[in-house]
Amino acid sequence: MVAAPRAHASAPGKIILFGEHAVVYGQPSLSLAIGKRTHVEAEAGGAGVTVNGHPLDPAYHAYIVQALRLCGADGPVRLQTRSELPSASGVGSSAALSVATVAALLRLQGAPHDPARVAELAFRTEFETQGAASPNDTTVSTAGGGVLLAPKRSEAPGTQFLWELRRGEHAWAAHRVELPPLPLVVATTGRRAKTGDQVAKVRRFVEHSGFARDVVAEIGRITLEGVDALRAHDLKRVGHLMNRNHECLHTLGVDAPDLHRLVTAARNIRGAYGAKLTGAGGGGSLIALAEDPEAVRAALEALGSQALVVRPDPDGVRLEA
Ligand code: MEV
Repeated sequence: MVAAPRAHASAPGKIILFGEHAVVYGQPSLSLAIGKRTHVEAEAGGAGVTVNGHPLDPAYHAYIVQALRLCGADGPVRLQTRSELPSASGVGSSAALSVATVAALLRLQGAPHDPARVAELAFRTEFETQGAASPNDTTVSTAGGGVLLAPKRSEAPGTQFLWELRRGEHAWAAHRVELPPLPLVVATTGRRAKTGDQVAKVRRFVEHSGFARDVVAEIGRITLEGVDALRAHDLKRVGHLMNRNHECLHTLGVDAPDLHRLVTAARNIRGAYGAKLTGAGGGGSLIALAEDPEAVRAALEALGSQALVVRPDPDGVRLEA
C-alpha cells in the first residue's frame, strides 16, 4: 500500500423512515441518506494527533479516538472536520463523522477505497463509542440513497444486497433499495439528546420487559409493511405506518414532549400523511410525509423548529479531491 500525504472524505447524514431502536435488536430498518455532509481532511505529520488545531481529547473526540484505533492509525496526523449536520439531533452526525474519518484514515494509509470495509470499521467505531449500536446509521452514510437492513438477505425486486454486518448474536444484511420520490420534511426540536443514552434507556426496558420486546417486534413488522407500502407508492399507508411506528417509540420511552408536540402539529396540517420521530429520540428530530412538504416545513418553522424539505443523497461516502 502506498500512503497518501493527505486525504479528504465526506459522508452524508440520514433520516430513519422506519425501525430505529428495534434495529439494535436485529429487527429491520429503512433509512435514507440526506444531502447534508460531514467532511474530514487528514494530513500525515505534526506532533501527535490534532483535531481542528487542538490536541486529540477523548472527552471531545470520542468517535475519532475509536476510528484511529480501529484503523490502526498510530502516526502523527492533523485532522480537520466540518459538518453541515447538527450534532445529537437524530440526523446521523456521529455516523457521518465516523464514516468520513475511517474513509480518510484508510485513504491516508494507501488502502483502496472499499465501502464494505469502511461500513464495518465505522460501525465498530460507533459501537465502541456508544457502548451499543446497530450498523444502521453508518451503513446508510456509507452507501447513500435508500438502505434496508434486514436480519436475512432479501431478493425482493428493487433491492440490491450490499454486505453483511455482525455483532454478538445479531446479523444485519444491508441492501440498497429503490425508493419513490418522497415529499418529506425533517425538523429538529433544537434539543440535543445523546444516542448512547437513548439506546441504553431502551436496552434497560427491553432486558426487563417482555412487553418492551413485543413492541420491538411490532416495530419490525411495521417496517416491513412500510417497505411494501413504499414499493406500491402508497404514501397514505406509509404515513399511517409512520404514525404507528411513532406510537411504538413513544411506548419505548424515547419520545419527548417538545418532539411529540411537533409530531402532532405536523400530522394535523392539511395533506399530511403521517409523522414520527427519527433517530434516537429524547429530543432530536422528526420527519413528516405530506402532499405539500413546503406547507409543513413553514408550519413547523412557525412553531420554532428548524425544518427543511428532505433532499435525498444518492451518494454515500466520497473521497474528495
Ligand atoms: C439512531 O440514529 C438509531 C438507533 O436505532 C441506534 C442505532 O441503530 O444504533 C436509535
